[in-house]
Amino acid sequence: MTEQRKSIHGTWSSKWTFILAATGSAVGLGNIWKFPYMAGDNGGGAFVLVYLACIVVIGIPIMIGEIMIGRRGRSSPANTMRFLAAEANTTKAWTMLGATGALAGLLILSFYSVAAGWAMAYVFSGFQETSAQAVSGNFEEFLADPVSLIFWHSLFIVITVIIVARGILKGLEAWINTLMPMLFLIIILLCIYAMQTGAFMEGLVYLFKPDFTKINSDVLLAALGQAFFTLSLGMGAIMAYGAYMPANQNILKTAFVVAALDTGVALLAGIAIFPIVFANGLAPTEGPGLVFVTLPIAFGNMPFGVFFGTLFFILLSIAAISSSISLIEPGVAWFVESLKTKRSYAAITLGAFAWSIGVFSALSFNLMSDFKIFGMNFFEFTDFITNQIMLPLGGIFIAIFVGWVMKKQNVLEELQIKEGFIFNVWFFLLRFIAPVLVGLVLVYFFI
Ligand code: PHE
Repeated sequence: MTEQRKSIHGTWSSKWTFILAATGSAVGLGNIWKFPYMAGDNGGGAFVLVYLACIVVIGIPIMIGEIMIGRRGRSSPANTMRFLAAEANTTKAWTMLGATGALAGLLILSFYSVAAGWAMAYVFSGFQETSAQAVSGNFEEFLADPVSLIFWHSLFIVITVIIVARGILKGLEAWINTLMPMLFLIIILLCIYAMQTGAFMEGLVYLFKPDFTKINSDVLLAALGQAFFTLSLGMGAIMAYGAYMPANQNILKTAFVVAALDTGVALLAGIAIFPIVFANGLAPTEGPGLVFVTLPIAFGNMPFGVFFGTLFFILLSIAAISSSISLIEPGVAWFVESLKTKRSYAAITLGAFAWSIGVFSALSFNLMSDFKIFGMNFFEFTDFITNQIMLPLGGIFIAIFVGWVMKKQNVLEELQIKEGFIFNVWFFLLRFIAPVLVGLVLVYFFI
């Protein structure tokens, strides 16, 4: 009945574009860097199982809700929430959800950029070493050097800011159409390499055979946080992209496609990495360095390894950029709308903010390594607060807003579906299961 609000920022020309952009946001360091080391730190199979359950039962339903909110509001997450709150005759306080989400995005960007800097630096690493010892030594040496970490961190932020300042849509399609499939192919190649390390089965068992005794509140929260992080949920990135989505696109199908692609890449990365870990006597609990001490061994030992290794880290850096632009976009879009600033000013200001916080993350591997907050260094702490607290909380509020605050007929209208089995399952998951489970995990963790 109501004609949809026109987006201030325009809409994407084709349905494909939203899928590309959302996949570009979702697939990034979260899949290739974070997923494997989180799985390794949290006991392997048990973590993976909980993570997959979180994707299906919590992640996909919330993703559908977040896209739907974004498309209905058609502006930056903060203003979208304000508009939809008004439409539902409720308090303007919901604007806060968009605002805190934008802040979460900048905080994530601050450390994401440090890790993305590692990926960029590895483009030039040459892949000459073949032993685990030499490769680990190189990584440790690299982390000990504050100047180069800050250099690569700065470069990554600058690239992100330039792309966002020019408007996120330019160039995005080309990347995802051609480069993302290439990244996918190299990961398959790495899986093939992993098959002949002699520890392939060991890796698979580690990743897919859950040891239920390992599940505790830490593992639950880590897996839940990872599900939000990898799907880019709970802070408005997907909402911001939803604002550009054509009115006639099927939101449910789209969410499934994006989640499936994202999960596929993460699992393949795990399948490639763990056999290398075991074959080389490394520990799965290596932490954030895990990909940087495993994959270079593979590239060092395979034919044309220099070529594939260099290409891999170029593609990984680009995958990180297509995620980082969505981390800053909620804030930038909001600045542009509310303060009427130029995109470039907004991008530079917010980029500088994320950069300065990120400097402390870069330093937490060297000069500030003794500085601990609740036993975590600055990098780990920002990661923890954002992924495991802010994103799940944002997710609960998104679920509550769609499930309890919005008028059901508006939800149906925006999703363009009829009330039926699929809708009912989704709505039930969103109203009850997602907020209750996320709430329980958070409460369980804190007590
Ligand atoms: N999903 C991205 C990744 O896996 C990170 C991200 C998180 C992007 C939250 C946007 C919002 O790398």
